[in-house]
Amino acid sequence: MSQNEGNTKERTVTLHVVSSLDGFIAKKDNSVSWLNSPGKVYEAGVSISEEEVATFLKAIDCYVLGSRTYEHALELGWPFGDTPVVVVTSREWPPSSSTRKTVEFYSGDLKTLVDVKLAPRYRNIWLVGGAMLCQRFLELGLVDEFRLTIAPVLLGEGLRLFGGSLTEQRWNLKDVVAYKNGFIELSYSAVSS
Ligand SMILES: NC(=O)c1ccc[n+]([C@@H]2O[C@H](COP(=O)([O-])OP(=O)(O)OC[C@H]3O[C@@H](n4cnc5c(N)ncnc54)[C@H](OP(=O)(O)O)[C@@H]3O)[C@@H](O)[C@H]2O)c1
Repeated sequence: MSQNEGNTKERTVTLHVVSSLDGFIAKKDNSVSWLNSPGKVYEAGVSISEEEVATFLKAIDCYVLGSRTYEHALELGWPFGDTPVVVVTSREWPPSSSTRKTVEFYSGDLKTLVDVKLAPRYRNIWLVGGAMLCQRFLELGLVDEFRLTIAPVLLGEGLRLFGGSLTEQRWNLKDVVAYKNGFIELSYSAVSS
């Protein structure tokens, strides 16, 4: 049993993605070299140590991702460690010896996923893509915190984070952090209705 079991009220769903300056989160060929920053150091920016990153990641209780992001993560190298991962899909995934023990597949209503399946077990829930799943979560008002990391690059084409049919939504700016590598992180919280 997770230590957060029963703590349904305090769950936070944080959407986190990295976007190019022109709003793309993936290139057409799925290559990820654009996520590296060979540019000039931004001296006024901050840098974080590996220990700080590890402490930060340790506080994440669960990741939620769409099946295409899952498949891409398998190709690139698993970035989620031993943290539980829920993959949203409408497909049947036959049992496979290569499926990690920490991975669960979910089909169905997304509000039920958050309120019934995740909230009783996890407090700090991270939705990490892709574009399709993030848009559905935003449309349904299931995102509490929004962290958008902007990479210092224009891609020109690719997969748009906001290519769908979102309607106007206000968000409260919580924090802005500029990093030495030229990336900027914008953090917002949902405006409660
Ligand atoms: N830059 C970044 O931070 C970042 C982050 C994440 C991903 N990415 C990139 O984004 C790309 C993938 O994004 P994507 O938008 O194409 O796909 P995605 O959101 O990762 O996955 C889409 C799939 O998720 C499932 N899905 C989504 N909504 C669903 C719902 N309401 N009910 C049931 N299933 C649902 C469906 O799976 P089935 O088809 O199995 O039914 C759908 O085909 C990859 O290239 C990845 O590397 C970039």
